[in-house]
Amino acid sequence: MQRRIYLETYGCQMNVADSELMLGQLHRAGYERTEEAADADVILLNTCAIREHAEQRIYGRLGELTRHKVRRPGVLLGVAGCMAQHLKTRLLEKVPAVDLVVGPDGYRDLPALLDGARDEPTLAVRLSRDETYGDLAPARADGVRAWVSIMRGCDKFCAFCIVPFVRGRERSLPLEEVLRQVEHAGAEGFKEIVFLGQTVNAYRDGEDDFASLLRRADAVEGIARIRFTSPHPSDFTDRTLEALADCRKVMPHVHLPLQSGSNRVLDRMRRIYTIEEYEELVARLRAAVPGLALSTDIIVGFPGETEDDFEATRDAMRRVGYDSAFLFKYSPRPGARSAEWDDDVPDAEKTRRITILIEEQKQASLDRNAAVVGQDVEVLVEGPSKRNPEHWFGKCRRFKTTIFPRRNEAVGDLVTIRIAAASPYTLFGEGVPSSLRAMEDATP
Ligand code: SAH
Ligand code: SF4
Ligand code: F3S
Repeated sequence: MQRRIYLETYGCQMNVADSELMLGQLHRAGYERTEEAADADVILLNTCAIREHAEQRIYGRLGELTRHKVRRPGVLLGVAGCMAQHLKTRLLEKVPAVDLVVGPDGYRDLPALLDGARDEPTLAVRLSRDETYGDLAPARADGVRAWVSIMRGCDKFCAFCIVPFVRGRERSLPLEEVLRQVEHAGAEGFKEIVFLGQTVNAYRDGEDDFASLLRRADAVEGIARIRFTSPHPSDFTDRTLEALADCRKVMPHVHLPLQSGSNRVLDRMRRIYTIEEYEELVARLRAAVPGLALSTDIIVGFPGETEDDFEATRDAMRRVGYDSAFLFKYSPRPGARSAEWDDDVPDAEKTRRITILIEEQKQASLDRNAAVVGQDVEVLVEGPSKRNPEHWFGKCRRFKTTIFPRRNEAVGDLVTIRIAAASPYTLFGEGVPSSLRAMEDATP
């Protein structure tokens, strides 16, 4: 009898890609996916550990899902991903209903691990130096966008970050395996490729670097657009900047995490760049790619962050002019270096700082989007808007969500849309009634 797997994914796009990898392994072992936990033989959560809040949410969810085991004792409950790797046996102790704890380097043998977990609680949290899963075929979700992990792990050890501890050492997939995945995704009908890695532009396979990869992928038939996330500011080379300028399919959007605008904080964070170097890179990127959109990640309330440091971040954000920003309150992560330091910015102060940045970024995003009104943008049609099936949604070249009335387009088409209105998070094509714009807004 076919077994059914219910899978929930938390965290970043790398986890989304890992979930597709796990589903590929499980399909080959005879599992089919179900959208209902109540129907499942195996319930699996692919988890994140980046901030404490992420783990709290998952504990809550595990509590809820435990009831399926109470009702149907044969059901297996598994925890995969970064929180599994972070907590290891502690997860089995804290949530006794869990049958399997499997870290990011244990997915190749997932079906066998599940079989073993039927007999006794199982732990598979050994990190690998060379596992890349490059030879495995992921079961990609339907859509226009294919996620392709090109490297795993991270060697940067930023002081606040748990990723190097839960994902292990940096390693890249062989270039030919990446290209095979791109070609395969193109043949399956995907129009856009997103290359993934924690420091994606540190990609290397012998003599080939991220620039070689972009150039080779740019030549693959069927693929219309290429994106990548997240590059590290210190890993951009001239070769990569030239590739960004030359490759027609590489889209004019770079997510460039800043974290802080204060050199004192950047140094303590071990980000290995100064704000001056970062801004010089921004200038070179903008020169290489006209009309480039930039987004970023910022942390407020890092240990020792003074009012002056915060103001430096605020100023830097103004000077750079981001199209969007993910803003986080610092969260100490046991294991990471800064967890040993006093978390001395009170939560109320973190809230005050993040609120200021949210408001200022909202206005900056609105200003930048308003500048597009009256222009034509190229949109890759992703599907009907969730809020109103008479509208399509998709992303423009600069990765802004765009909503427009459905005509006779199909999902996967590239269409030209005249922008009539804008909010901080969304562009609206002509013909979207103003009364519906607020409802359609893709507020994060
Ligand atoms: N590899 C990427 C970031 C991955 S984590 C990079 O180097 O930029 C995504 C974001 O989460 C980070 O950019 C950072 O802004 C945030 N983050 C990571 N650890 C955090 C922590 N301990 N507290 C708050 N935010 C954190
Ligand atoms: Fe974390 Fe820094 Fe690595 Fe990004 S580069 S994953 S922030 S350690
Ligand atoms: Fe979270 Fe792991 Fe990604 S900690 S952000 S899921 S790499």
